[in-house]
Amino acid sequence: MKYNNVTIPEWLDRIIFDDFRAVYEPRPMEVVYNPDQPYDFVKLYLGTYFPRSYAEAYGITFQILSIKGFKEHYINLEEINLLDFCCGTGGEIIGTIVALQSKLPNLKRVNVDAFDANVDAVRFLLHLMSAVNSSKEMRITININPQCIYINSEQEIKDIVNLTNVQYHFMMSFKAINEFVQHKTFDKNAYELIASHLFPLLSPDGVFIMTDVSTKLNDSILFYPQMMNIGLNNYIKQTSLYKSIIPAACFNHEGICSGCYMQDSFYVTHTRKLKDISKVAYRVLCKTNFAVELMHNSPKKDCRAINNMADKNLPYNN
Ligand SMILES: C[S@@+](CC[C@H](N)C(=O)[O-])C[C@H]1O[C@@H](n2cnc3c(N)ncnc32)[C@H](O)[C@@H]1O
Repeated sequence: MKYNNVTIPEWLDRIIFDDFRAVYEPRPMEVVYNPDQPYDFVKLYLGTYFPRSYAEAYGITFQILSIKGFKEHYINLEEINLLDFCCGTGGEIIGTIVALQSKLPNLKRVNVDAFDANVDAVRFLLHLMSAVNSSKEMRITININPQCIYINSEQEIKDIVNLTNVQYHFMMSFKAINEFVQHKTFDKNAYELIASHLFPLLSPDGVFIMTDVSTKLNDSILFYPQMMNIGLNNYIKQTSLYKSIIPAACFNHEGICSGCYMQDSFYVTHTRKLKDISKVAYRVLCKTNFAVELMHNSPKKDCRAINNMADKNLPYNN
């Protein structure tokens, strides 16, 4: 399988489209800001954007598990802790867990802490997880704790951190931080600020997957991937505590990169659409020691940090 060409498993397709009557209908203008979307919109979200997030998370987790030496740290684990910041209907949670299930035969249980402002999405997620847990195709039990929280300032992120009392193996935020940028929730770079609060919750061999849309900001010449790279690189340079493992090029160049634009495409197939395309930018980061252990032997990769003419997809393809 190529990591970015994903088909929703039949059992999950049945749950979302038959049991929950999700609807496939892209609404690019309406999906830009989501905390207040009503219940009917959540059905459109479930049929259109849930499968895309599933595919992105499945493909990214597949890449993580393919990094030489990574699986050895997880192969004996029976339990994994996962945190999803701004989970929505949680496509990325299921995509991650289905990928983990396929590669980690000893894994029995995933404990999920999931946060989002949209009460309908959170309610949906709870019902969906119960249906997924009842499916005979799922060997892993998902123990989910979804919480409805509207983040209006840095304080609510501190509240989330204080609510948690475990270290996480998989942490993630999918296509949500741009909404904080749009709303000017923080007066600092939102990617950097969120990283600075959440990264300390990573376990020694945990990973943080940060994914966002690859479009342009409303009132700036910048694109979201550039802003994400500026924020993450800044935080990494300040603390030296974390490094990137995906894209591999970032491992070597994040110290000198001034914030490249980058983009990858995922294709997702389900009963309502063949090869639906989703374009995103993402970085996977972990504690420095773990990153160095995984990456020290890998050859240096090319990217825009060292070659201005490089293609925007190059960091993901080389
Ligand atoms: C585009 S959706 C992505 C949802 C999910 N991560 C996915 O990929 O399917 C963005 C999510 O961020 C949440 N969100 C946006 N601003 C928020 C805020 N200030 N506080 C909490 N959640 C917020 C929205 O409610 C929405 O569910």
